Amino acid sequence: MSEQHIQKLQTLKAIAETLNEANDLEEMLDAVLKQLIHVTELECGWIFLVDKKGSYSLVADCELPPALTWENKQPMCEGDCWCLDRYNDGRLQRAANIIECKRLEDAIEEKWGDTKGITHHATVPLRAGDEKFGLLNVASPNKTHFTNEELALLEAVAFQIGTAIKRIKLVENEQKLALLAERNRLARDLHDSVNQLLFSLMLTAGGAKEMTTDGRMKKTLDYIQQLAQEALQEMRSLIWQLRPQGLENGVASALMNYGKMLGLNVEMDIHGVIDLPSDVEECLWRVGQEALNNCKKHADVSTVSIFITVKNKQIKMEITDKGCGFNYSDEEMPSLGLKSMKERIEAMNGTFHIKSAIGKGTTVQMMIPLKGERAK
Ligand SMILES: Nc1ncnc2c1ncn2[C@@H]1O[C@H](COP(=O)(O)OP(=O)(O)OP(=O)(O)O)[C@@H](O)[C@H]1O
Ligand SMILES: [Mg+2]
Repeated sequence: MSEQHIQKLQTLKAIAETLNEANDLEEMLDAVLKQLIHVTELECGWIFLVDKKGSYSLVADCELPPALTWENKQPMCEGDCWCLDRYNDGRLQRAANIIECKRLEDAIEEKWGDTKGITHHATVPLRAGDEKFGLLNVASPNKTHFTNEELALLEAVAFQIGTAIKRIKLVENEQKLALLAERNRLARDLHDSVNQLLFSLMLTAGGAKEMTTDGRMKKTLDYIQQLAQEALQEMRSLIWQLRPQGLENGVASALMNYGKMLGLNVEMDIHGVIDLPSDVEECLWRVGQEALNNCKKHADVSTVSIFITVKNKQIKMEITDKGCGFNYSDEEMPSLGLKSMKERIEAMNGTFHIKSAIGKGTTVQMMIPLKGERAK
Protein backbone atom coordinates (compact mmCIF):
# COMPACT_ATOMS: atom_id res chain seq x y z
CA MET A 1 0.00 0.00 0.00
CA SER A 2 1.26 3.44 -0.84
CA GLU A 3 2.05 6.01 1.80
CA GLN A 4 -0.93 8.01 0.61
CA HIS A 5 -3.33 5.12 1.06
CA ILE A 6 -2.12 4.43 4.54
CA GLN A 7 -2.52 8.10 5.42
CA LYS A 8 -6.05 8.02 4.06
CA LEU A 9 -7.01 4.94 6.05
CA GLN A 10 -5.53 6.41 9.19
CA THR A 11 -7.62 9.52 8.73
CA LEU A 12 -10.80 7.50 8.32
CA LYS A 13 -9.97 5.35 11.32
CA ALA A 14 -9.30 8.35 13.55
CA ILE A 15 -12.55 9.97 12.46
CA ALA A 16 -14.55 6.78 12.97
CA GLU A 17 -13.19 6.46 16.49
CA THR A 18 -14.14 10.01 17.39
CA LEU A 19 -17.62 9.58 15.95
CA ASN A 20 -18.17 6.31 17.68
CA GLU A 21 -17.64 7.77 21.12
CA ALA A 22 -19.93 10.75 20.72
CA ASN A 23 -23.44 11.17 22.04
CA ASP A 24 -23.88 14.91 21.90
CA LEU A 25 -24.28 16.40 18.44
CA GLU A 26 -22.37 19.66 18.82
CA GLU A 27 -19.59 18.12 20.89
CA MET A 28 -19.26 15.41 18.29
CA LEU A 29 -19.00 17.85 15.38
CA ASP A 30 -16.49 19.96 17.22
CA ALA A 31 -14.33 16.95 18.07
CA VAL A 32 -14.48 15.44 14.61
CA LEU A 33 -13.59 18.70 12.91
CA LYS A 34 -10.55 19.18 15.14
CA GLN A 35 -9.58 15.59 14.47
CA LEU A 36 -9.90 16.05 10.71
CA ILE A 37 -7.84 19.22 10.66
CA HIS A 38 -5.28 17.53 12.89
CA VAL A 39 -4.81 14.37 10.79
CA THR A 40 -4.84 16.05 7.38
CA GLU A 41 -2.70 18.87 6.12
CA LEU A 42 -5.57 21.29 6.29
CA GLU A 43 -5.44 24.39 8.44
CA CYS A 44 -8.97 25.37 9.18
CA GLY A 45 -12.53 24.23 8.84
CA TRP A 46 -16.11 24.83 9.86
CA ILE A 47 -19.44 23.03 9.86
CA PHE A 48 -22.83 24.52 9.10
CA LEU A 49 -25.95 22.61 10.01
CA VAL A 50 -28.83 23.53 7.71
CA ASP A 51 -32.44 22.93 8.68
CA LYS A 52 -35.22 21.83 6.35
CA LYS A 53 -36.13 25.42 5.58
CA GLY A 54 -32.60 26.26 4.50
CA SER A 55 -31.55 28.31 7.55
CA TYR A 56 -28.07 27.54 8.69
CA SER A 57 -26.09 27.75 11.89
CA LEU A 58 -22.39 27.51 12.52
CA VAL A 59 -22.01 24.55 14.88
CA ALA A 60 -18.29 23.89 14.83
CA ASP A 61 -15.17 25.68 13.68
CA CYS A 62 -11.47 25.14 13.94
CA GLU A 63 -8.62 27.61 13.49
CA LEU A 64 -10.66 30.19 11.61
CA PRO A 65 -8.60 33.21 10.51
CA PRO A 66 -9.26 36.50 12.38
CA ALA A 67 -11.16 37.86 9.36
CA LEU A 68 -13.86 35.28 10.00
CA THR A 69 -13.90 35.43 13.80
CA TRP A 70 -14.44 39.22 13.76
CA GLU A 71 -17.12 40.40 16.24
CA ASN A 72 -17.86 37.03 17.74
CA LYS A 73 -17.72 35.19 14.37
CA GLN A 74 -20.34 37.46 12.84
CA PRO A 75 -19.12 36.83 9.25
CA MET A 76 -19.91 33.13 9.80
CA CYS A 77 -23.33 33.59 11.31
CA GLU A 78 -25.01 36.03 8.93
CA GLY A 79 -25.67 36.49 5.26
CA ASP A 80 -25.62 34.03 2.43
CA CYS A 81 -22.72 32.51 0.56
CA TRP A 82 -22.08 30.46 -2.53
CA CYS A 83 -21.62 27.11 -0.85
CA LEU A 84 -24.89 27.37 1.10
CA ASP A 85 -26.72 28.65 -1.99
CA ARG A 86 -25.54 25.64 -3.94
CA TYR A 87 -26.39 23.30 -1.10
CA ASN A 88 -29.89 24.71 -0.73
CA ASP A 89 -30.79 24.61 -4.39
CA GLY A 90 -29.65 21.01 -4.61
CA ARG A 91 -26.62 21.55 -6.86
CA LEU A 92 -24.15 20.42 -4.22
CA GLN A 93 -24.39 16.65 -4.20
CA ARG A 94 -20.72 15.80 -3.77
CA ALA A 95 -17.51 17.29 -2.46
CA ALA A 96 -16.58 20.38 -4.47
CA ASN A 97 -13.93 23.02 -4.87
CA ILE A 98 -15.51 26.36 -4.16
CA ILE A 99 -13.81 28.80 -6.46
CA GLU A 100 -13.67 31.56 -3.91
CA CYS A 101 -15.29 32.07 -0.56
CA LYS A 102 -17.82 34.88 -0.43
CA ARG A 103 -17.47 35.26 3.33
CA LEU A 104 -13.72 35.75 2.92
CA GLU A 105 -14.21 38.18 0.05
CA ASP A 106 -16.59 40.22 2.17
CA ALA A 107 -14.13 40.09 5.05
CA ILE A 108 -11.37 41.47 2.84
CA GLU A 109 -13.58 44.18 1.42
CA GLU A 110 -14.85 45.25 4.83
CA LYS A 111 -11.36 44.94 6.39
CA TRP A 112 -12.50 42.65 9.18
CA GLY A 113 -9.00 41.27 9.75
CA ASP A 114 -6.29 38.93 8.56
CA THR A 115 -7.41 36.07 6.33
CA LYS A 116 -4.11 34.22 6.91
CA GLY A 117 -3.80 33.58 3.19
CA ILE A 118 -7.04 31.64 2.99
CA THR A 119 -9.10 32.47 -0.08
CA HIS A 120 -10.75 29.24 -1.21
CA HIS A 121 -12.28 26.24 0.48
CA ALA A 122 -13.59 22.82 -0.32
CA THR A 123 -17.15 22.10 0.59
CA VAL A 124 -18.83 18.77 1.23
CA PRO A 125 -22.47 18.04 2.04
CA LEU A 126 -23.11 16.04 5.21
CA ARG A 127 -25.52 13.29 4.28
CA ALA A 128 -26.87 9.94 5.34
CA GLY A 129 -28.69 8.22 2.50
CA ASP A 130 -30.84 10.89 0.91
CA GLU A 131 -31.08 12.97 4.05
CA LYS A 132 -28.96 16.13 4.20
CA PHE A 133 -27.84 17.81 7.40
CA GLY A 134 -25.41 20.55 6.43
CA LEU A 135 -21.95 21.35 5.13
CA LEU A 136 -18.37 20.64 6.02
CA ASN A 137 -15.93 23.25 4.76
CA VAL A 138 -12.16 23.05 4.92
CA ALA A 139 -9.33 25.30 3.78
CA SER A 140 -5.61 25.94 3.88
CA PRO A 141 -3.53 29.06 3.24
CA ASN A 142 -2.80 29.62 -0.43
CA LYS A 143 -4.63 26.47 -1.40
CA THR A 144 -6.92 27.24 -4.31
CA HIS A 145 -7.60 23.75 -5.53
CA PHE A 146 -8.36 20.38 -3.99
CA THR A 147 -7.41 17.27 -5.96
CA ASN A 148 -9.93 14.56 -6.75
CA GLU A 149 -8.13 12.35 -4.31
CA GLU A 150 -8.51 14.94 -1.53
CA LEU A 151 -12.17 15.51 -2.37
CA ALA A 152 -12.85 11.76 -2.29
CA LEU A 153 -11.34 11.52 1.17
CA LEU A 154 -13.40 14.47 2.37
CA GLU A 155 -16.48 12.85 0.96
CA ALA A 156 -15.78 9.63 2.81
CA VAL A 157 -15.32 11.58 6.04
CA ALA A 158 -18.52 13.55 5.40
CA PHE A 159 -20.46 10.32 4.94
CA GLN A 160 -19.17 9.06 8.26
CA ILE A 161 -20.19 12.31 9.94
CA GLY A 162 -23.62 12.29 8.26
CA THR A 163 -24.30 8.79 9.47
CA ALA A 164 -23.27 9.73 13.01
CA ILE A 165 -25.56 12.78 12.94
CA LYS A 166 -28.42 10.55 11.87
CA ARG A 167 -27.68 8.11 14.70
CA ILE A 168 -27.62 10.88 17.32
CA LYS A 169 -30.86 12.36 16.01
CA LEU A 170 -32.57 8.99 16.18
CA VAL A 171 -31.46 8.50 19.77
CA GLU A 172 -32.64 12.01 20.71
CA ASN A 173 -35.99 11.31 19.14
CA GLU A 174 -36.35 8.07 21.04
CA GLN A 175 -35.54 9.84 24.30
CA LYS A 176 -38.07 12.56 23.56
CA LEU A 177 -40.75 9.99 22.86
CA ALA A 178 -39.91 8.02 26.01
CA LEU A 179 -40.17 11.18 28.10
CA LEU A 180 -43.45 12.06 26.48
CA ALA A 181 -44.82 8.60 27.14
CA GLU A 182 -43.72 8.75 30.78
CA ARG A 183 -45.33 12.11 31.39
CA ASN A 184 -48.53 10.95 29.75
CA ARG A 185 -48.54 7.85 31.91
CA LEU A 186 -48.06 9.92 35.05
CA ALA A 187 -50.84 12.27 34.01
CA ARG A 188 -53.13 9.35 33.35
CA ASP A 189 -52.31 7.67 36.67
CA LEU A 190 -52.86 10.85 38.64
CA HIS A 191 -56.10 11.39 36.85
CA ASP A 192 -57.32 7.89 37.56
CA SER A 193 -56.17 7.61 41.19
CA VAL A 194 -55.83 10.89 43.09
CA ASN A 195 -58.52 12.64 41.11
CA GLN A 196 -61.05 9.92 41.76
CA LEU A 197 -60.23 9.90 45.48
CA LEU A 198 -60.64 13.64 45.76
CA PHE A 199 -63.87 13.41 43.90
CA SER A 200 -65.27 10.80 46.32
CA LEU A 201 -64.08 12.88 49.25
CA MET A 202 -66.01 15.82 47.87
CA LEU A 203 -69.16 13.77 47.38
CA THR A 204 -68.92 12.12 50.81
CA ALA A 205 -68.49 15.45 52.56
CA GLY A 206 -71.49 16.77 50.62
CA GLY A 207 -73.57 13.71 51.62
CA ALA A 208 -72.54 13.96 55.30
CA LYS A 209 -73.51 17.60 55.34
CA GLU A 210 -77.05 16.65 54.43
CA MET A 211 -77.17 14.08 57.22
CA THR A 212 -76.53 16.42 60.14
CA THR A 213 -78.46 19.28 61.68
CA ASP A 214 -75.53 20.44 63.81
CA GLY A 215 -74.58 23.87 62.44
CA ARG A 216 -70.88 23.64 63.40
CA MET A 217 -70.58 20.20 61.87
CA LYS A 218 -72.25 21.41 58.68
CA LYS A 219 -69.73 24.26 58.49
CA THR A 220 -66.80 21.87 58.96
CA LEU A 221 -68.08 19.48 56.32
CA ASP A 222 -68.66 22.39 54.00
CA TYR A 223 -65.06 23.40 54.51
CA ILE A 224 -63.86 19.86 53.76
CA GLN A 225 -65.94 19.85 50.60
CA GLN A 226 -64.47 23.15 49.53
CA LEU A 227 -60.91 21.98 50.20
CA ALA A 228 -61.48 18.81 48.19
CA GLN A 229 -62.84 20.92 45.34
CA GLU A 230 -59.75 23.15 45.40
CA ALA A 231 -57.44 20.14 45.51
CA LEU A 232 -59.25 18.69 42.53
CA GLN A 233 -58.77 21.93 40.63
CA GLU A 234 -55.06 21.99 41.50
CA MET A 235 -54.77 18.43 40.39
CA ARG A 236 -56.39 19.18 37.06
CA SER A 237 -53.97 21.95 36.26
CA LEU A 238 -51.06 19.80 37.40
CA ILE A 239 -52.13 17.08 35.02
CA TRP A 240 -52.31 19.59 32.17
CA GLN A 241 -48.85 20.83 32.98
CA LEU A 242 -47.53 17.31 32.96
CA ARG A 243 -48.37 17.04 29.32
CA PRO A 244 -45.13 18.57 28.12
CA GLN A 245 -44.80 22.06 26.65
CA GLY A 246 -48.48 22.82 26.83
CA LEU A 247 -51.26 21.45 24.75
CA GLU A 248 -49.65 21.61 21.35
CA ASN A 249 -47.53 18.65 22.33
CA GLY A 250 -50.72 16.77 22.86
CA VAL A 251 -51.39 17.23 19.17
CA ALA A 252 -47.76 16.73 18.24
CA SER A 253 -47.40 13.43 19.99
CA ALA A 254 -50.82 12.31 18.82
CA LEU A 255 -49.85 12.99 15.20
CA MET A 256 -46.49 11.36 15.73
CA ASN A 257 -48.15 8.22 17.02
CA TYR A 258 -50.77 8.31 14.33
CA GLY A 259 -48.04 8.49 11.66
CA LYS A 260 -46.24 5.61 13.32
CA MET A 261 -49.42 3.60 13.30
CA LEU A 262 -49.71 4.24 9.55
CA GLY A 263 -46.13 3.06 9.13
CA LEU A 264 -44.76 6.54 8.41
CA ASN A 265 -41.65 8.00 9.93
CA VAL A 266 -42.76 11.41 11.23
CA GLU A 267 -40.14 14.12 11.75
CA MET A 268 -41.48 16.69 14.15
CA ASP A 269 -40.18 20.22 14.56
CA ILE A 270 -41.89 22.40 17.17
CA HIS A 271 -41.18 26.06 17.92
CA GLY A 272 -42.85 28.06 20.63
CA VAL A 273 -44.90 26.95 23.59
CA ILE A 274 -48.47 27.80 24.35
CA ASP A 275 -51.63 26.43 25.94
CA LEU A 276 -53.79 25.70 22.93
CA PRO A 277 -57.53 26.00 23.27
CA SER A 278 -58.99 22.53 22.92
CA ASP A 279 -60.96 23.41 19.77
CA VAL A 280 -57.74 24.47 18.00
CA GLU A 281 -56.06 21.30 19.14
CA GLU A 282 -58.95 19.18 17.92
CA CYS A 283 -58.96 20.96 14.55
CA LEU A 284 -55.21 20.48 14.03
CA TRP A 285 -55.51 16.86 15.05
CA ARG A 286 -58.27 16.12 12.52
CA VAL A 287 -56.60 18.01 9.69
CA GLY A 288 -53.23 16.50 10.55
CA GLN A 289 -54.69 13.03 10.47
CA GLU A 290 -56.15 13.56 7.00
CA ALA A 291 -52.86 15.02 5.75
CA LEU A 292 -50.99 11.97 7.07
CA ASN A 293 -53.60 9.66 5.55
CA ASN A 294 -53.05 11.34 2.20
CA CYS A 295 -49.26 11.00 2.49
CA LYS A 296 -49.72 7.33 3.21
CA LYS A 297 -52.33 6.72 0.50
CA HIS A 298 -51.05 8.88 -2.35
CA ALA A 299 -47.55 10.25 -1.88
CA ASP A 300 -45.56 7.02 -1.88
CA VAL A 301 -43.17 8.07 0.88
CA SER A 302 -41.99 6.64 4.16
CA THR A 303 -41.04 9.94 5.81
CA VAL A 304 -43.22 12.96 6.53
CA SER A 305 -42.17 16.19 8.24
CA ILE A 306 -44.40 18.25 10.50
CA PHE A 307 -43.49 21.81 11.52
CA ILE A 308 -45.48 23.51 14.25
CA THR A 309 -44.76 27.13 15.12
CA VAL A 310 -46.54 29.24 17.70
CA LYS A 311 -45.69 32.90 17.29
CA ASN A 312 -47.44 36.28 17.18
CA LYS A 313 -50.72 34.91 18.50
CA GLN A 314 -51.03 32.34 15.80
CA ILE A 315 -50.25 28.73 15.30
CA LYS A 316 -48.87 27.44 12.03
CA MET A 317 -48.63 23.83 11.05
CA GLU A 318 -47.01 22.43 7.92
CA ILE A 319 -47.05 18.83 6.81
CA THR A 320 -44.59 18.01 4.06
CA ASP A 321 -43.85 14.91 2.09
CA LYS A 322 -41.27 14.52 -0.63
CA GLY A 323 -43.49 12.18 -2.59
CA CYS A 324 -45.05 12.11 -6.02
CA GLY A 325 -47.02 15.36 -5.70
CA PHE A 326 -50.15 16.19 -7.68
CA ASN A 327 -51.72 18.95 -9.74
CA TYR A 328 -53.61 21.21 -7.46
CA SER A 329 -55.52 24.44 -7.75
CA ASP A 330 -57.24 26.34 -4.95
CA GLU A 331 -60.35 26.85 -7.06
CA GLU A 332 -61.00 23.19 -7.70
CA MET A 333 -60.86 21.13 -4.57
CA PRO A 334 -60.70 17.62 -5.99
CA SER A 335 -62.51 15.75 -3.25
CA LEU A 336 -63.80 15.54 0.24
CA GLY A 337 -60.55 14.98 2.16
CA LEU A 338 -58.89 18.22 1.09
CA LYS A 339 -62.15 20.13 1.13
CA SER A 340 -62.96 19.26 4.71
CA MET A 341 -59.42 20.12 5.82
CA LYS A 342 -59.84 23.57 4.33
CA GLU A 343 -63.32 24.00 5.79
CA ARG A 344 -62.21 23.00 9.28
CA ILE A 345 -59.37 25.50 9.25
CA GLU A 346 -61.48 28.29 7.80
CA ALA A 347 -64.14 27.67 10.43
CA MET A 348 -61.47 28.68 12.94
CA ASN A 349 -60.80 31.88 10.99
CA GLY A 350 -57.58 30.37 9.73
CA THR A 351 -55.99 29.99 6.33
CA PHE A 352 -55.21 26.80 4.44
CA HIS A 353 -52.90 26.26 1.46
CA ILE A 354 -51.50 23.37 -0.46
CA LYS A 355 -48.29 23.49 -2.43
CA SER A 356 -47.73 20.53 -4.65
CA ALA A 357 -45.95 19.71 -7.88
CA ILE A 358 -45.63 16.44 -9.72
CA GLY A 359 -42.47 14.69 -8.61
CA LYS A 360 -41.62 17.40 -6.08
CA GLY A 361 -43.83 16.43 -3.16
CA THR A 362 -46.58 18.16 -1.26
CA THR A 363 -46.81 20.66 1.57
CA VAL A 364 -50.04 21.34 3.39
CA GLN A 365 -49.89 24.64 5.28
CA MET A 366 -52.34 25.97 7.82
CA MET A 367 -52.53 28.89 10.18
CA ILE A 368 -55.03 29.49 12.96
CA PRO A 369 -55.15 32.75 14.91
CA LEU A 370 -55.20 32.33 18.68
CA LYS A 371 -57.15 34.16 21.40
CA GLY A 372 -58.55 37.61 20.58
CA GLU A 373 -57.95 37.33 16.85
CA ARG A 374 -60.31 34.39 16.60
CA ALA A 375 -63.24 35.73 18.61
CA LYS A 376 -64.78 37.50 15.66
N1 LIG B 1 -49.74 14.14 -0.10
C1 LIG B 1 -50.23 13.86 -1.33
N2 LIG B 1 -49.41 13.38 -2.28
C2 LIG B 1 -49.88 13.09 -3.52
N3 LIG B 1 -51.16 13.27 -3.89
C3 LIG B 1 -52.04 13.73 -3.00
C4 LIG B 1 -51.62 14.07 -1.67
N4 LIG B 1 -52.69 14.54 -1.00
C5 LIG B 1 -53.72 14.50 -1.88
N5 LIG B 1 -53.33 14.02 -3.07
C6 LIG B 1 -54.16 13.88 -4.27
O1 LIG B 1 -55.32 14.66 -4.11
C7 LIG B 1 -56.46 13.86 -4.21
C8 LIG B 1 -57.54 14.36 -3.30
O2 LIG B 1 -57.20 14.14 -1.94
P1 LIG B 1 -58.39 13.98 -0.89
O3 LIG B 1 -57.82 13.81 0.45
O4 LIG B 1 -59.31 15.13 -1.07
O5 LIG B 1 -59.10 12.67 -1.38
P2 LIG B 1 -58.69 11.14 -1.21
O6 LIG B 1 -57.57 11.02 -0.25
O7 LIG B 1 -58.49 10.57 -2.55
O8 LIG B 1 -59.98 10.53 -0.60
P3 LIG B 1 -60.53 10.74 0.88
O9 LIG B 1 -61.71 11.61 0.67
O10 LIG B 1 -60.86 9.38 1.34
O11 LIG B 1 -59.51 11.41 1.71
C9 LIG B 1 -56.02 12.46 -3.94
O12 LIG B 1 -56.82 11.49 -4.55
C10 LIG B 1 -54.61 12.45 -4.50
O13 LIG B 1 -54.62 12.23 -5.87
MG1 LIG C 1 -57.66 11.92 1.58
